[in-house]
Amino acid sequence: MKSTLVRIFTFPVMLALPVLLLTACSDSGPVSVPQAEQTGTASTSRWYSNEQLATGTEVFARNCAACHGENAQGTVGDWRQRLEDGSLPPPPLNGTAHAWHHPNPVLLQVINNGGAAFGGKMPAFAEVLDESEKLAAIAYFQNFWSDEIYAQWTQMGGPN
Ligand code: HEC
Repeated sequence: MKSTLVRIFTFPVMLALPVLLLTACSDSGPVSVPQAEQTGTASTSRWYSNEQLATGTEVFARNCAACHGENAQGTVGDWRQRLEDGSLPPPPLNGTAHAWHHPNPVLLQVINNGGAAFGGKMPAFAEVLDESEKLAAIAYFQNFWSDEIYAQWTQMGGPN
């Protein structure tokens, strides 16, 4: 009896959690960075090297751009608008959506596991890319982040 109750109560929470993770803080913070600042060339020092950036450009183009856009700008008008099947569209990763709320270990988890666990469409890359390729892909889309967004991300854990 007890375990049934626990299941009844935890099930909706499990369903709701990833949605909260993806949308919870989307309305806070200075997400409205002027497009002109999104140059793709960062001026402050970043955790990644030019070499990682070059690798990331290739990895992203081959594995991620079809859904997230060539310049990580997204491929849908409104990434918060759920699709007909209830899943979320691929969000921009260029600093205009939500990805910058996550430190690198969390971003790696998303890339490794994809969205299947919560009805999402993001494929899992755990067996597709090695660790350095995944980090390089992260470097690629983070290079579109403004210095302001990058600084805030650093305060929330950043590369660690
Ligand atoms: C088939 C489409 C598709 C491909 C290919 C894809 N993604 Fe995604 N991605 C999604 C969707 C859809 C979501 C939203 C979560 C979900 O519903 O699965 C997402 C979410 C994410 C997030 C979380 C963003 C946030 O705001 O928290 C990151 C990071 C991400 N993807 C990175 C990548 C990277 C890096 C690659 C390539 C290695 C990639 N994705 C390939 C569809 C895709």
